[in-house]
Amino acid sequence: MRPIPVIAAVLVIAGIAAGAAFSVNAVDPVVAKRQDSMKAMADAAKTISGIFDGKLAYDAAVFKAAAETIRRRSGIAMVDEFPEGSFGAPSAAKAEIELSREEFAALAGHLETLAAALSSAADDAPDGITESMRMAPGMAMGSSLLGKRAGGAVAGDDPSKMPAEHLFHLMLQDCTNCHAKFREKRQ
Ligand code: HEC
Repeated sequence: MRPIPVIAAVLVIAGIAAGAAFSVNAVDPVVAKRQDSMKAMADAAKTISGIFDGKLAYDAAVFKAAAETIRRRSGIAMVDEFPEGSFGAPSAAKAEIELSREEFAALAGHLETLAAALSSAADDAPDGITESMRMAPGMAMGSSLLGKRAGGAVAGDDPSKMPAEHLFHLMLQDCTNCHAKFREKRQ
């Protein structure tokens, strides 16, 4: 039994539902495109979460494709999707992004680094989730749920040496941290 993964996944998936409701108006193509990117990442995160929870059968190709979806859409690609002047309603992106470019880019870059490591983990596990991909008990409590560290702040931890499940938790934390600061909460 590992209750922690479910909690983290639910946090992100709840955010997805809230975000998805706002794309009904005709929006600027830049905004529409990045919202689609975000949704694609959310779908990928759901897939990965389902695989870790055993709700989806493990398939290395599917697992890797999901990690790659997130990797490709994070980092610079993500930053580029938020050009100057593209903030405010009907977008949920806060104008604060413009004032905190470095922090925004750090979060996007951190997500990319983690997603790349997760993608590599799939190469080492062609047949199923290995024990070494699993998070050790207490790991999530120590650094995933309680330690609210911003992007880049895991300096010293080498992503390539972290269990895949832990990487995934840190990724969800990047999503949550960025949304908390840079995404408008709408009722
Ligand atoms: C560096 C900041 C940042 C990171 C990292 C980030 N997001 Fe977002 N996300 C945003 C912003 C800003 C918006 C609002 C975009 C808009 O409405 O223009 C958003 C919107 C969304 C939406 C709503 C899209 C819609 O249809 O309106 C979803 C879903 C989402 N993000 C999922 C994720 C997931 C899953 C991750 C992690 C794998 C993630 N995000 C990582 C900043 C980020």
